[in-house]
Parts: sequence; structure tokens; C-alpha cells
Amino acid sequence: MAFKTIIEPFRIKTVEPIKMSSVAERKNYIKNAHYNPFLLKSSQVIIDMLTDSGTSAMSQNQWAAMMQGDESYAGAASWERFYDAVNDLTGFEFVLPTHQGRAAERILYGYLGGKGKIFISNTHFDTTRANIEFSGATAIDIPVKEGKDFDSDYPFKGNLDITLLQQLIKKHGKNIAAVIVTVTNNSGGGQPVSMENMKAVSALCKKNKLLCILDCCRVAENAYFIKHREKAYANHSYRQIAQQMFALADGAIMSAKKDALVNMGGFLAVADKKLADACMNLLIITEGFSTYGGLSGRDMEAIAVGLKEVFDDDYLNYRIKSTAYLGDRIKQHGVPILYPIGGHAVYVDAKKLYPQIPVHEYPGQALVCELYTTGGIRCVEIGSVMFGKYNKSGKLIPAPQELVRLAIPRRVYTQSHIDYVIEVFDEVLKNSKKVKGLKITKEPQFLRHFTAHFERLK
Ligand code: F0G
Repeated sequence: MAFKTIIEPFRIKTVEPIKMSSVAERKNYIKNAHYNPFLLKSSQVIIDMLTDSGTSAMSQNQWAAMMQGDESYAGAASWERFYDAVNDLTGFEFVLPTHQGRAAERILYGYLGGKGKIFISNTHFDTTRANIEFSGATAIDIPVKEGKDFDSDYPFKGNLDITLLQQLIKKHGKNIAAVIVTVTNNSGGGQPVSMENMKAVSALCKKNKLLCILDCCRVAENAYFIKHREKAYANHSYRQIAQQMFALADGAIMSAKKDALVNMGGFLAVADKKLADACMNLLIITEGFSTYGGLSGRDMEAIAVGLKEVFDDDYLNYRIKSTAYLGDRIKQHGVPILYPIGGHAVYVDAKKLYPQIPVHEYPGQALVCELYTTGGIRCVEIGSVMFGKYNKSGKLIPAPQELVRLAIPRRVYTQSHIDYVIEVFDEVLKNSKKVKGLKITKEPQFLRHFTAHFERLK
């Protein structure tokens, strides 16, 4: 029997109050935050969908494990448990603990990068690209063309374009520092990569002696999609699928703030001793000694437990189905979304929702503000505010898409919270024709979406 209600596979033991607010209060809050939700206080937010990173609720077993945190500077028991958990999952012999994903990126890509070097990925995440470009190297994205069609139900829109990869290998040869497979492909809509694609990338890397790195921060969510969409894996466990993916790579970078179900942490894991030794030097200079890196003993304990819990069948079923529940409902109600729905977030096409707002008046930012004032929902624009650039005469070169991301924290919100979000969207839809755009009144040179100020256009 298949019941429709998605029951959260947990009971709630500790609660964190949410402060309710009125539309009038929120209008005031967002005005004072210069129409940029990054400048709101979290106490002014009802449902926080800004990110799924570091926002998970930990389990009783994770909290209990933290009490066993061994904070010794060297050779702590917590390090042994952390190492065993990472080694058992990834199969990589050398593990470097870092305080979050981008610290691992800085170490690995800083070492491999430099002027003239090329990195290739399905889509480099912002911090991945920033670390690569900061080293002087170039980052090239090669997502499959199906990924650009928001309506097709192609099952693996996170895949890399193998023909393009072959061409790039021919063109750049040994200058390629690494091929990075991001699972799921966050900047491409949280879409999964198939095992078949991973095998093809891995084979090309082996043949051409190139390093293949898995950005595995959502590897459990990716494994769910492989099990349910790729026939050959229907009878594998989620963990076995993830282990097989790692076996096809030479190393992995993880932001543990996602699928390790913790609030802070990460690691770099590699098979090659020479590479590990070089990275270890950088780890010790900038993060910490090799047996703790950027983490306290209790953090390592929580990650070790989280890396096991995340592969639980009931958890992953709830996780992916509840994200799809939100996406399917708002789509049925008429909200244009990126389809199929990804693992950690629903992406709304703001350009389609607000055809009256030109891209230089930021339709995505307008939607972000509407969702906040209408229902206290905080989310992020992924469009021309985040990725727009100016040409020499100061004209905006818009981003390819005007999206808004509703990211879902893990194990935090219940189905009634999500039903509330769906209702807020109904209200936002009713008023969609009246909504106007915004202009930027103040912006920094880099990563402007975090701190820019806006004004509403009359
Ligand atoms: N790689 C991917 C695919 C990510 O999504 C992130 C972070 C990182 C690397 C960097 O990890 O934040 O621990 O340093 N993504 C967050 C997000 C910030 O909201 O999607 P970090």
C-alpha cells in the first residue's frame, strides 16, 4: 500500500522555535536589509531555504558521539574513527580533514593549478571555480546539452559531455590538471550524474593519465537517483553505489556540511601518496596537524556517524521524495521550475514567472523578495545578481538563466512546513503580474550577491 503523506523517518526530541512575523513587519525588515535576504537576521525568517549547507539537524547518535570527542592534538581516537569512516566509504588511503569543502579545494586545486593549467567539470561550483581561478588556472564547464532544457525529463542532467571532454583532452593534453565530477551537480540544478557517465569519464582519464576528482558533497543523494533511474543498479545499496563511484575516481573532495549531516567540516581524500604528501604540507600550514586539520575531535565524531546515517534507505527515500513533493506541487500550481527536480533543492525559473521584468531589473531578486514578504521564506537568486557581469561601457551582461533556489535543509522541516511554502507560492502567483524589478544601488567587486544593496523600481 502506498500512502501519500511523506512521514519524516524520525521523531522530534529537541525543538528550535521559529519566530512568526506579519507581512507589515517583513516589509520593513526587507527594506532595512536593502532587499537582500543575506542581510536579514535569521530571527526575521520563518522558513530558511537559503542553503542546505551546514543547516542539517543532527541525530541523537551524532550528539552522543560528540561526547566522545578526543581533543588531543595528535593521534586522537576521534581521528581514527573519522579516518575509518571516510576510508571505508571512499576506499582512499590518504585522508586530510579540513574545516569545510573550500579549504580542501584551496589545498588541492592550489597545488595542482597555476597559470596555463585547465580544470574540466560538469559545472564548477562557485568556490571551486574561485579557487581554481585564484591559482591562475582556467575552469571549463561541460554539462550535457540536455541539462540546459528545463522541461525535458532526461534522467541524468548532471552528466559531463563526453564528446566535449574528448575534444578538450585532445586540445589541452597534459595541461589538464584534473577532471572534476560534481555529484549532484549543484550549479546545474542539483541534477545527478549516472554511473555510466562516471565510468566513461574515468576511462578517458585513465587512458590519458589525467586525475579524476569526485566533488562528493551530495554523493548519497546522487546514489538515490542512480538506484532508481539506472537499471543495472536497482539491486545495489545506496552505499555500494557511492563506493563504486569513488572506486572510479583518483580522489575526492567533500563539504561534509551536506551529506555528512553536520554543521561544519570537510575532507580531501586521495589514492596517491605523492599527491597526499604535497597536500599534507599545505594542510599543516593552513588548517592544522594531519590528524585533525581544520576540525575538533567532536566534529570528526559527528561526521563519522553522519556518513553512515545518510545512506539509510528510509532517510534517503524521505529526503528525495520531500524535495520532489515541493517541486511537483508548485509546478502543478503553475510555477515554472527546473525539471526533473534535483536532490537538495527546487529551482524556479523567475524569468518565466515574471516576463514583465527585464533581466537587468533582476526578476530572480524580485521573486526572492516576494517570497520573503509574503511568507517569510528566505531563498537565493541564482541569476544575473549572482553571475551578471558588466561590459566596458557598464552594460549588464546577464547570466544565462534567472533562477531562484529553494534549498532544503536536511531533517529540519516537516511536511507541514513544506505545505506552507506551497501555499505562499499560490499567493505569490496571484500577484505575479503586478511585481516590479529592482536596481542595484551599492555592490562590492566580487561575489556581489552576498552584500549588494537594492531599491525597488516604481
Ligand atoms: N562543492 C559544491 C558542489 C558545493 O555545493 C559547495 C558548497 C562546495 C563545494 C563548498 O563547500 O561551503 O563547505 O566550503 N555549497 C553551498 C551551497 C555553500 O549553498 O550550495 P563549503
